[in-house]
Amino acid sequence: MNTFSRSSFLKQTAMASAALLVSSLESLAKNTPSKKLRVAIIGCGSVSNRYLPQLTSSALIEVVGLCDIKYDRALAQAKAFNIANTYPHIDKMLEALSFDMMVTITDMQAHGELNKKALLAGKHVWSEKPMANTYAEGKALFELAKNKGLRIWGAPAVVNSPQFAFMSKAIQEGKLGRVAAAHGQYGHTGPTWSAFFYEQGGGSMPDLGVYNMATLTGLLGPAKSVMAMTSIVNPERTVDDKGKIKVQAEDNAQILLEHANNVISHVMCGFNYFDPHGHDAKGQTLHSIQIYGDYGNMRLIGYDWEPKGVYLDTSWTEPAKLYLPDAEGYEWQEGATKVGESLIKGIEPRIATEHALHVLEIIEAARSSSANGKRVTLQSTFKWPMV
Ligand SMILES: NC(=O)c1ccc[n+]([C@@H]2O[C@H](COP(=O)([O-])OP(=O)(O)OC[C@H]3O[C@@H](n4cnc5c(N)ncnc54)[C@H](O)[C@@H]3O)[C@@H](O)[C@H]2O)c1
Repeated sequence: MNTFSRSSFLKQTAMASAALLVSSLESLAKNTPSKKLRVAIIGCGSVSNRYLPQLTSSALIEVVGLCDIKYDRALAQAKAFNIANTYPHIDKMLEALSFDMMVTITDMQAHGELNKKALLAGKHVWSEKPMANTYAEGKALFELAKNKGLRIWGAPAVVNSPQFAFMSKAIQEGKLGRVAAAHGQYGHTGPTWSAFFYEQGGGSMPDLGVYNMATLTGLLGPAKSVMAMTSIVNPERTVDDKGKIKVQAEDNAQILLEHANNVISHVMCGFNYFDPHGHDAKGQTLHSIQIYGDYGNMRLIGYDWEPKGVYLDTSWTEPAKLYLPDAEGYEWQEGATKVGESLIKGIEPRIATEHALHVLEIIEAARSSSANGKRVTLQSTFKWPMV
């Protein structure tokens, strides 16, 4: 890739995405017909083992650099996945490496600061959840991205699954009748490798409940208000990187969401939920999402991030039918790849920044509701329906 085309590519990116319209990505793509997106990854821990195979298998993406403050991890992943450049600090990477999009998969608490640095340096960003540590910080990052003609997106990618599309269409087509209520749940006994999951700024909502919140708002529309109770069930844990630690963020949460038309949904998540299918949810055949209307109901088998089918029940006499037992290539770790490819192809991805921000506001509102015993009204919204 020569210098001239790289700079014109980045200029086109800036011009094209300024208005955040579908056509902006189209015009970007027209001007960059045969380019690969140069991606740098920050954070080479557990989840990098899922991201790296995804990103390196895309024909439209080249992973050009890896960064981790535990530098041996960057070196090891560079060797395993044949990546040319490694860095022990983001500043060094931003200084030395030419690239287009940063993929942030570090400790949750570092996301906001790292994403800001990348945007200030002119890079698009895909961030693992949460994309910032507060809703205000997230909004500021989104504004910064817009002002600089860049994009920032946040995980999860649950809206990409064919099961999500099926459920969304079924609701929109009225197959369930008038929708009244929904439930989502996700829990296991908690990650054992890193302390950040349990420290201030971590917690079971941004790590686990975030998937259900994205799915339920994605299916039922933006939430208008939130009521919640959160707690710490297990005040002390032993983790690989720090030994015995005090749990500071909620490891148990029950959240009620009020959507339009008096629809109410419920999310339950926690780090103390026995589940023999474990962190990887292998072989889960029970449902974790349910949607009820007065003519039908749907139950998503497996988890929204690892879906194994949807039971649709609309008959008083026939058993519920199972649809889409196959994820058709969808993988939960595909978000960075899909938005990266969207920058090259010019097709607006289904994943929306406003949706990630809405979920971030829900998490914050749930904490506030639990602390104050009050219902919290939300400000944010996003374009809906998504399918
Ligand atoms: N592990 C999973 O299965 C999984 C699944 C989905 C999402 N996630 C999300 O991915 C993110 C990372 O989780 P993980 O399990 O991989 O954690 P991890 O602890 O295994 O890895 C995080 C890595 O980030 C590095 N890091 C921290 N601060 C940094 C900084 N300022 N600059 C550079 N590197 C830094 C750490 O040294 C570590 O190697 C979290 O947001 C988590 O919620 C993880």
